[in-house]
Amino acid sequence: MFQEENKSADSLNNSADQPSDQTNNQANIQQEFSNAKVTINVDGKELIFNNANISKVQSNGQETFQISQLRKKKRIFITGVAGFLGSHLADALLKQGHEVVGCDNLIGGYMDNVPDEVEFYQVDCRYLNTMNKLMKGCDIVYHTACTAYEGLSVFSPHLVCQNTSQISATLITAAITNKVKRFVYCSSMARYGTQDVVPFTEDMTPKPQDPYGIAKYASELLLKNLSEVHGMEYVIAVPHNIIGPRQKYDDPYRNVASIMINLMLQGRQPIIYGDGEQKRCFSFVEDDIDCLLQLGFKDGLNGEIINIGPDEEFISINELAKTIAELLNFDLKPIFMPGRPQEVKLASCSANKARRLFNYSTKVTLREGLQSMIDHIKAKGAKKFRYHLDLEIINEKTPKTWKNRLF
Ligand SMILES: NC(=O)c1ccc[n+]([C@@H]2O[C@H](COP(=O)([O-])OP(=O)(O)OC[C@H]3O[C@@H](n4cnc5c(N)ncnc54)[C@H](O)[C@@H]3O)[C@@H](O)[C@H]2O)c1
Repeated sequence: MFQEENKSADSLNNSADQPSDQTNNQANIQQEFSNAKVTINVDGKELIFNNANISKVQSNGQETFQISQLRKKKRIFITGVAGFLGSHLADALLKQGHEVVGCDNLIGGYMDNVPDEVEFYQVDCRYLNTMNKLMKGCDIVYHTACTAYEGLSVFSPHLVCQNTSQISATLITAAITNKVKRFVYCSSMARYGTQDVVPFTEDMTPKPQDPYGIAKYASELLLKNLSEVHGMEYVIAVPHNIIGPRQKYDDPYRNVASIMINLMLQGRQPIIYGDGEQKRCFSFVEDDIDCLLQLGFKDGLNGEIINIGPDEEFISINELAKTIAELLNFDLKPIFMPGRPQEVKLASCSANKARRLFNYSTKVTLREGLQSMIDHIKAKGAKKFRYHLDLEIINEKTPKTWKNRLF
């Protein structure tokens, strides 16, 4: 009656897609496939379903297949789809059979990050009319676009706020106008600022301490306010220090691990701000994607704020440099520069809420994640750093690394 296809490990192991209908549990289920492609022949006509969940059942010595659920394909809009997180998210959604529309102005990210199947528009999110048009018929919006430059935001607040809180207001407006079912906002750990206790939990009062964190938190408040007034579902993801392939590594203003790898691959010493004893957790992108998927689809999450990423392996920037140097077999002698204003010393987010809601577990260790990033950057080739953004405030506090273009 039907053939089942697409039995790749990826499609079989996606817990987000496990069948919710468990009525077959008295049958002898041998194997379950979620997210499979099924072709059914009806009166000589082929019907193709991309998102079926199938159980292989043994009964009375006979093997049969039962389709337990066909998931409806959704149209999903991703802002910042040429970016690191946006492009990985697009891949995962496409793999589940959804349609993905995406936009990016390419101020960050790379054009070749965008998966071929994405309906892509190179456009700035600041244009309300355009956003209104692009969101037509979309069920879910993932808003990842941002100039996510925490350290730089103290020196280029105009640029960072424009591409954080300002565009958020535009996108939320377009989503409400288009009756989008759910808006998932990618906030940042910068919302927490410095807290008395580490790791940070979602119930702590945000105390952002730089324009980036303030603009991220302002976006959250705008989303909460407008969603409650106009009845749109929303969820806030709080990722922190994600690493992995496709992250921009020729950008002197952000992504500490990528910068260090790019420098060491060029035979150059990494630059560390302050004493290097600032501590962070780093999560591998694939460990975060499953949580992000569930934020778009799982019921009962309206209004939730959820940290995304591990709370294990809380390490200093000095230790990070050491680990990368070991993986590259590099003779490490870091260059220390004065600390940057407003940098938070200890920052890590508790993953307990994600563990409880999504069964989150860290699958990729820091060393494995860094190795994967090293392999990616090696394959692409080390690159000269591009000073592509304006320093809006230049004074004695502006790091020399940027003023004098030391990277
Ligand atoms: N990567 C991390 O470690 C991390 C940690 C915490 C939070 N976040 C958040 O996750 C989101 C994605 O981060 P990322 O690391 O993928 O960043 P990224 O820079 O790789 O991706 C962001 C994308 O947004 C695009 N963009 C920026 N402003 C735009 C605009 N006005 N119009 C259209 N496109 C625009 C950029 O060109 C870029 O491709 C951001 O909102 C960031 O604040 C990331």
